[in-house]
Order: sequence, then C-alpha cells, then structure tokens
Amino acid sequence: MSDQKRFTITAALPYTNGPVHIGHLAGVYVPADIFARYQRMKGSDVAFICGSDEHGVPITIKAKKEGITPQELVNRYHKIIGDSFREFGISFDNYSRTSAPIHHETASAFFTKLYKEGKFIEQVTEQLYDPEADQFLADRFVVGTCPKCGNTESYGDQCEKCGTSHNGTDLIDPKSAITGNTPVLKETKHWFLPLDQYSEWLNEWIVEGHAKDWKTNVLGQVKSWITDGLHPRAVTRDLDWGIPVPVEGADAKVLYVWFDAPIGYISATKEWAAREGKNWEDYWKNEDTSLLHFIGKDNIVFHCIIFPAMLKAHGEYILPENVPANEFLNLEDDKISTSRNWAVWLHEYLQDFPDQQDVLRYVLTANAPETKDNNFTWKDFQARNNNELVANLGNFVNRVIVLTNKYYEGVVPETMELTERDQKVLDQIKSFPQSIGDSLDRFRFREALQDLMNLSSIGNKYIAEEGLEPWKLIKTNPEQVQNIMYVCLQLTTALAILSEPFLPHTSNKLKKILGYSALDAESAGWDRVASSEPLLPSGHKINASELLFSKIEDEQIQAQLDQLEATKAANAATISDLMPQKEETNYEDFMKMDLRVGEILTAEKMPKTDKLMVMTVDTGIDKRTIVSGIAKHYTAEELVGRKVTVLANLAPRKLRGVESQGMILLAEDPEGKLVFVNPDDAVVNGSTIA
Ligand code: 2FM
Ligand code: ZN
Repeated sequence: MSDQKRFTITAALPYTNGPVHIGHLAGVYVPADIFARYQRMKGSDVAFICGSDEHGVPITIKAKKEGITPQELVNRYHKIIGDSFREFGISFDNYSRTSAPIHHETASAFFTKLYKEGKFIEQVTEQLYDPEADQFLADRFVVGTCPKCGNTESYGDQCEKCGTSHNGTDLIDPKSAITGNTPVLKETKHWFLPLDQYSEWLNEWIVEGHAKDWKTNVLGQVKSWITDGLHPRAVTRDLDWGIPVPVEGADAKVLYVWFDAPIGYISATKEWAAREGKNWEDYWKNEDTSLLHFIGKDNIVFHCIIFPAMLKAHGEYILPENVPANEFLNLEDDKISTSRNWAVWLHEYLQDFPDQQDVLRYVLTANAPETKDNNFTWKDFQARNNNELVANLGNFVNRVIVLTNKYYEGVVPETMELTERDQKVLDQIKSFPQSIGDSLDRFRFREALQDLMNLSSIGNKYIAEEGLEPWKLIKTNPEQVQNIMYVCLQLTTALAILSEPFLPHTSNKLKKILGYSALDAESAGWDRVASSEPLLPSGHKINASELLFSKIEDEQIQAQLDQLEATKAANAATISDLMPQKEETNYEDFMKMDLRVGEILTAEKMPKTDKLMVMTVDTGIDKRTIVSGIAKHYTAEELVGRKVTVLANLAPRKLRGVESQGMILLAEDPEGKLVFVNPDDAVVNGSTIA
C-alpha cells in the first residue's frame, strides 16, 4: 500500500440493543483503530467511520420486553456504546447513528434510485405470519431449524451457528418468537435485490481479483457463497421500526436492516464532512480512495456480497479494497454470549480496571482472532500485563526516565564518541516504522504488536548488558553512560511514537513524560522515527517519571473468575434450562408412594460399571438392597451413614443382575449434577414422608 493515500475506514455499526464487549473490541474496533491511527501518522487522509445500528427486529423485541419504545432503547445503548468506544480511545472521526435524519434521507435516496432504475424485482410471495400477533415474522421474529447445519435455534435471516444467511421460509419447523405458535404463510409484496445477477461479477472481482490480498477466511466464505448459488434477496420487511420504504402504497413496510445499515457508513461520512467542511464524495466516489471494512466473520456475506452488489447496482460508488474480517473471540473457552451474559462488558471492565484501557487493547491485539477463533482468559490477561507490559515495556521506560532525572536532572545528555554497539541500536530503531508498518499494511496486527515489543526488548537488553549497566558504569565511565542514556532516550521516544496506534493512552502519557509534545508537532509522524534527525535532541528537558503500567494482582483476577462462576451458576438455574413441569397428577396417586427416611449402611461400586452403586439401606422396616446410578458423583465412603429419602414401594427391578428394591431420591441440576434430598439426621429411620 502506498504512503499518503485517502482512506475510508469503516467499522461495523454495532446493534444498539446491548452494550459492547471484548469480542467486539478484539474483532473489529481495536484493529480498525490501530489501522486508522497508523494511517493518520503516515500522513494519509483518513475518514474513520462508525455509528449505532438502530434498526432491526432484536431492538423491537427488547424494547417490547422492557415496555419502552425502540427509540428509547437505542438512545440508552447509543450512549453506553459511544462512551465505551471513547474511553478505549477508538478514534472515530464520526460515530453516528442510523436513526439520524441524514441517514434516513441517504438510505431512502439510495433505495429510490435503484427502484427507479429497475434494479429490484418486485414480487408478491408467501411469508411467515403469526395470526395471533397479527404480524409477519421477519428475521428474528422467527426461530427454527437451519436447513444447512441443523441448528434448531436458527433465526429467520441468519443461522448464527454456521453463518448461513437465509429466508424465514427456508427454516424447518419455524416458530414465532412472539407467541411460540407455528406460523402460517401469507402473501405480501416485497422488493428483492437479484444477487444471482451479480454472481459472475462478484466472482471476477473478489475470487479472481483479490485472491492474493484478501484474507483466506474471507475468501473462503465468499467462494462458498458463490459456489452454492446466489439468490434474490428481499431488501424490505413488514415491520413498523426502520426506514419506511419510499414507494407509494408500501405502508407498514421498512427497509431491511442489512440494506440500510451499510448505507450508514455513507450517511455518517456525509455528516462528518459537512461538519468538517470536507467533500464527502471524495471518500466514496473517488477511485483513489481505499475503502476498507473492518468487521467480524458473521458480517462477511453482507460486506463482501450484498453491500458490494448494492454499490454496483447504484453505480456511483467505489468498492471495498479489502474487508479484513476477524474470527471470533471466546471467553474462558466458551463462546461469548449476550443472552447467557458470558462476556466481559467494556463499561464493566472500566469500573474494575479504571485507567487500564490500554492493557485490554494490548491483550486483545496480542491475542486477536485474526486467522482462527481465539480465547480470552483472565490468567492470560494478567500474565501479559505483568510479564510483558510491566516487566518489558514499563520497566525499560521507567529505568530510562528515572536515570535521566537522576544523572542529568532530566536533560538529554550530549553524546561522546558512540560505540559500534550504540550505533547498532540507533540503526535498529530506524528500521521499526518499516517493519511494523509492513505488518499493519497486511492487517497483521498481532505481528505488528510483537514487533513493537521487540523494540522494547532491544532496549532492555541494551541497558542491562553485563558490565555495561549505566548504574554500574556511572562511577567509572560517565562518558559511556551519557551515550547509553542518549540512545535509550531515542529508543524510548520511538516507543512513544510507534506505540500510539496500539496503546494510545500510554503513548500520550509517555510523550508527556518525555516533553515530546513541546517539540515540533510534525515530529509526531510515523516515519519521523526512521529519519536521521535525533528524536529527542541533547539538551531537551524531560519530566518526572510516572509508571506506565502497574501489576495486576491475583485477587483482581480471582474476582473476575468468581463473577464468571456466578454467571455460570445463574445460567444453570434459568427457567429455560430446567425440566418443564410434568403432567398433572392427583392426590390419590401421590399418596400411593411410600416415601420414607432411610440410612445407607453399606455401599459398593458395582464391578465393571462406572455409574452404579450397590447399597444396603435401613428403611426402618427392613434392610434392603438398592442400586443407584450415583457412582460418578459419590464415593462409597461418602455414602455410608448418610440419611436418604427412599421410595420404598417401587416395584423391584434387576440392574446388571442385582435386584434393586426401591429408589433413593436425588435432585438433578440442569448440568446433570446429582444431589441427595437429605432428611435431617435426627429423623428416625422409617419415618414416612408425605
Ligand atoms: O453485526 C452487527 O452488529 C451489525 N449491526 C453490523 C452492521 S455493519 C454495517 F453494515 F452497518
Ligand atoms: Zn446453520
């Protein structure tokens, strides 16, 4: 990629029906921000665009549940999400929203142009309808079995398990998400984008044209879509929340959320350009502009097939140069899930780790799901902070600042004759903008961050080399220490500059400590690090030391793990996971059961089974053998002497040749754990229970 270009960088518009979590940050917003910051530092003209995706069915469902309007709901989350992004230093040039009037106008005009030019197919088809709710079941209003992978909880528009995008009518055994009823089919008119007509062009443009520069995970999905055959896709819905379809007689119909949302990138650019006195068309209609979409893998089809087909149909817009989609991030080996509250929410993270935004940015980049799904664990978070940020980067910088203040009252020393070793480090520093930049140009953020940390490691090695440590040499060879400290200060300044895209808060702090902002503003540029001019000239005064990072203690991590355990327990107890109530019974039938208190006298695991335990139980009226499937949960020693509830008059039955004369009652939790229904130890064996 050449230097000083114009970039339109978009980051997926988040749905505004909940806050954002670490998965969003890792997959989309941190890499997009790193890239935008890097390009600005290269001198490129950047429009970094995002906003809230405020339409779609999930928003209406959630608002209804809470008894508020969809607008009230999106207002709440628009603020929470926007605040989180700001806190984490995501440097959008504009964070807009799709309920903004400019977006309604832009999306309507886009649809109208395609409509007038006959780019849509207008068709009356049978769609799923819930007569009880008196509503068509668009998208997430219907749940059923995915025809491709068999997932029984696929939505009408997309299966979250296999990523397939389909029509509600494709679902097997569909059920209304509003009433649970099986929907009926009802005729309704909609407008379809004939994706099949774009298949050949898409194949040529992406599969043949971008085979070398697009990520393999993205190409793989696109190829499979095209090979499976593209079909016309409805771009309107029978809903009352969204952008009204701008066609006469299309009352109670809105644009499909995936039709309007990507147009949101254009509206947000217009809004920003008007504010900044720029021409928005430069960012969307000029072939010299690179359009990049940062997204997660579930958005690939929309950004690589549907939106490009829309742009092509429109005819006036540029197409994405790349769509560097990431895979998913898991949390502690389990899929991040909003409904199960299995996530680290950004606004909650900030409460527990205030001022440690960069630590999370660092960990999520170092562990980014670039080529495959990856895992976030709190232990890894702690280790990376303590061993890498504190022990490598923080330690080096702190030593340099403390020693400069101590030996030279904070003034960058003059150099004497530099040794080969000093010169080597100065030369190495100059190579980093290029090598880190090469990785960033190829969207390899993990590699780029590793490279940045290598620069810090070079510093640590240099300052602590056996026999050449400044704190040992200062008495015997102060001239040499001047050289070493001068080199270290150049390296520290390079770190302050090159860390900006990755760790913006840290970079700012370090620049302040170095008094760097007092120098020529131009010098903040990326390639400045490679120039022959000193980054921090002799005679320049730096400020007092401040720690860049602090150690994260075991207790802080344990608190997070405990919280996740509590979430797990709460999930296990949710009504939806519990067995539904059995059919009604009557008093007489219940009273037929002879339930009484017993005591386990002996217990022995049945040979050659892992589940069965053979026990002798004192039922008060006799001592009998009972076989129970609890051997995986309790050892024989744990059982002997325990009071239990026994169903005494259950007809005997043989289990592996041993006759079981009754049943011991056990509670089973949703995860399959068995626990005794324990009578009090003081109750006499044989006492009846009713
Ligand atoms: O997956 C999502 O969160 C969508 N709201 C992304 C939309 S991206 C764009 F096209 F607006
Ligand atoms: Zn599926």
